[in-house]
Amino acid sequence: MIESIATYRQTFLDHLAQIEFPESPRELYTPIEYILDIGGKRIRPVLVLLSADLYGAEPEEALPAAAAVEIFHNFTLIHDDIMDAAPLRRGKETVHERWDTNTAILSGDAMLIEAYRQLEFYSPEVFKPMMSFFSKTALEVCEGQRDDMDFETLDQVGIDQYLTMIKYKTAVLVGCALKMGALIGGASHSDQQALYTFGIGLGLAFQLQDDYLDVFGDPETFGKQVGGDIIENKKTFLYLKALELASEQEARELRDLYSIKTRDPQAKVQRVTQIFKSSGSADSARELIRNYTDQAFEQLESLDLPDNRKAVLREFGDWLLNRDF
Ligand code: IPE
Ligand code: IPE
Ligand code: MG
Ligand code: MG
Ligand code: MG
Repeated sequence: MIESIATYRQTFLDHLAQIEFPESPRELYTPIEYILDIGGKRIRPVLVLLSADLYGAEPEEALPAAAAVEIFHNFTLIHDDIMDAAPLRRGKETVHERWDTNTAILSGDAMLIEAYRQLEFYSPEVFKPMMSFFSKTALEVCEGQRDDMDFETLDQVGIDQYLTMIKYKTAVLVGCALKMGALIGGASHSDQQALYTFGIGLGLAFQLQDDYLDVFGDPETFGKQVGGDIIENKKTFLYLKALELASEQEARELRDLYSIKTRDPQAKVQRVTQIFKSSGSADSARELIRNYTDQAFEQLESLDLPDNRKAVLREFGDWLLNRDF
């Protein structure tokens, strides 16, 4: 039976609760338990369980891969928060704020290794392709993160460059989660590929939505510092499209605001937010999110599955697109 998204999440949380880390060294393992315990949407492990279930695999077979993906994701968040100088994650202090940067680096490293260890569960015929695909994805995430940082100080960034950057830093892991589940479920090569492409489309929409919420989200529900991307001069779609759509004068002002380290970040956030809205860039972002989601849904047509099974993937996509956290 195909389960609901809430059931997959609960199954995963029960599994995660059973993963134990050593008592010592405390300063290595406590931050890992902290980041894994403070919540999160659990999107990627849910996708592993869901896609494995689509092809009839038992949850027990998919749970180690789901854990690998979620632990890897949380490792990237710990390091990402250092890179982005972020104070908040899931409504709580980030690891490098609560402890310090060295702690965040090392606990992150240990999590990357833990993620790989989860895959030791699989028999050689699944392990080999899974491992190679997971490693390829993990390196792509690093490539995307490198571009993300380079773009902060690069003068000319094109929207196409931004889209490639978010494909690597975010979408490939969403695709990877779906493909790993399909691999465990024994899906055909063509279904694995279609699910991966579905994940890329959904992942692009997901990162665009994340960037949108970073500006327009409600601080109560978002769980991260609203305006953080603006303070860090992130060249998101909102920024790049605003440069295209705004008047010459406002575009110049926007460039100026992104070129200086301001002593009044709140005033900067306020003014930039206004320009994102008035230029029509915010509306344009919403439209692009919708388009990528629809494009992702088109991939589902070719899947060798009954329609009611595909419906749960659509349900997931719609939920992702409309979320406010
Ligand atoms: C945050 O990912 C990083 C991005 C790729 C946008 P999530 O939004 O999935 O974070 P959690 O795990 O739910 O907190
Ligand atoms: C993060 O993108 C992507 C990865 C962690 C690989 P962001 O920097 O936008 O993620 P948040 O907003 O901090 O969650
Ligand atoms: Mg960040
Ligand atoms: Mg980042
Ligand atoms: Mg973000």
